[in-house]
Amino acid sequence: MALSSLSLPNLVLQLIILLLLVLGGALMKFWKNLRLHPIVLTLATVLNIASVVLVMLPSTRRALPGSWDNIDMAFGLLLVHHSIGLVALAFSVVLVGGWLLSGRKPNGCPGSAKNKKWIMRITFSTWALSLILGIFLYAAYL
Ligand code: HEM
Repeated sequence: MALSSLSLPNLVLQLIILLLLVLGGALMKFWKNLRLHPIVLTLATVLNIASVVLVMLPSTRRALPGSWDNIDMAFGLLLVHHSIGLVALAFSVVLVGGWLLSGRKPNGCPGSAKNKKWIMRITFSTWALSLILGIFLYAAYL
């Protein structure tokens, strides 16, 4: 797959999203800041959706190999990155969407109850993993 002129700006955007994700997680985990935590993660989710729709989907279409014989390591990595990224995207939309639909109540999102913390943890871990794989992918296509 050839890198497009949007690949580098998209990589920078993904690094910003990674920073927002870590900041958003830390705001809750270490500072218990329930006001900024959802705001930062809503921003990260919106930026991520824009990056997927505007850059990653078009470049995936260009990367599709003509036949099974042409599948290489980088394409395999792309599939793993996309699969994990889709899980993260789905969970983040559920968390952020639920919170917005609740009228932005502090505990209004589907993952905020004490016994539902696993939803936040899965979202955070799959998202961070897919971002890190995406950075490797960029390096693999250089
Ligand atoms: C992409 C979206 C989100 C991610 C990745 C995320 C991630 C996290 C993480 C990593 C934690 C710390 C869990 C732990 O203590 O181990 C957490 C806790 C929490 N988050 Fe989120 N979060 C997201 C969205 C939201 C939204 C929209 C709200 C709405 C208010 C919210 C409310 C909370 C609350 C209340 C806790 C604390 C739960 C507790 O300690 O009892 N989160 N989140």
